[in-house]
Amino acid sequence: MSHPEQPGIFRQGFRHFHVLEYRLHDGVTRGALLNALRAAHLADSDTLAVVVAFGPACAQHLDDSTPVFPPFHAIHGRDGFVMPATQHDVLFWLQGADSDVLFDAVRHVHAAMVPVADAAVDIPCFTYHDSRDLTGFIDGSANPQGRAARNAALIAADQPGAGGSYVFTQRWDHDLAAFQALPVREQEMIIGRTKPDSVEFDAADMPQTAHVARTDLKVDGEAMKIWRRSMPFGTAREHGLWFLAFSCRLGRFDALLRSMAGADEAGVRDRLTDFSTPATGAYWYAPPARQLADWLAGG
Ligand code: HEM
Repeated sequence: MSHPEQPGIFRQGFRHFHVLEYRLHDGVTRGALLNALRAAHLADSDTLAVVVAFGPACAQHLDDSTPVFPPFHAIHGRDGFVMPATQHDVLFWLQGADSDVLFDAVRHVHAAMVPVADAAVDIPCFTYHDSRDLTGFIDGSANPQGRAARNAALIAADQPGAGGSYVFTQRWDHDLAAFQALPVREQEMIIGRTKPDSVEFDAADMPQTAHVARTDLKVDGEAMKIWRRSMPFGTAREHGLWFLAFSCRLGRFDALLRSMAGADEAGVRDRLTDFSTPATGAYWYAPPARQLADWLAGG
């Protein structure tokens, strides 16, 4: 039996995004939550796509056949570096063809959720030039493509939650002034790719502290491939990357994050963490489209 995923996971080409993370009020019943989710529901269209995902407690509250997984716990790395945990209950990731369409959708979702939850994260994001991070580097070059992307992102058919996906969200605040003060060659050494055209360094030239060296990772022979959909966000004063990615296994996120923090056996901290600081962190389960539809239809 196949379990088609929520299509927004793989939709591409939208340039406007919004991330909403909700904290459920104490004592919200399953029925009240389903009513809110029903009211929040928006069909995907040519101009809009919405992916919905749930924190571990909320997923179990909805349906105890969902995979059991832990909340995100803070990761303590080298030199006092910390990735904080801010686990919430419901995630909406909205993608729009334009900011007006998206804004209406965001307000629709929010009005539906207000009776049962507070918005802990409510942030517009955007595509920056040709899919670059605000540092100026292309983000997504090494993302798997086609079937490989599906294998990386979706829970395998023989696993609990088949066709669903684990999601990780993490806000990173950049110190762009400090990063951009560096010569371009040094910026490239921090990432492990060239800046204009994203050519990966040869192994011999790749510093161990480079972001690509820390994240092109194998554990026990298994490549820690994930499907990244991160987005720049920000204002004149505060800006960075809203990291958002999908994985077939939660452990892949954990391995990548520990590698970046220097909290694994290698003990090497990602040089990018000298210029960008994680401010949130949460794990989610995005159910397959059918499971979500069944909840909304049946209660
Ligand atoms: C400040 C935050 C971050 C920035 C600015 C950033 C930026 C980048 C850039 C520019 C690349 C190289 C081009 C590409 O392949 O996409 C890259 C690669 C990658 N990043 Fe990040 N990233 C950030 C955080 C993270 C986090 C938190 C993770 C994991 C949880 C991650 C996982 C990866 C992976 C798996 C690759 C591909 C490595 C490879 O196989 O070559 N990144 N990132």
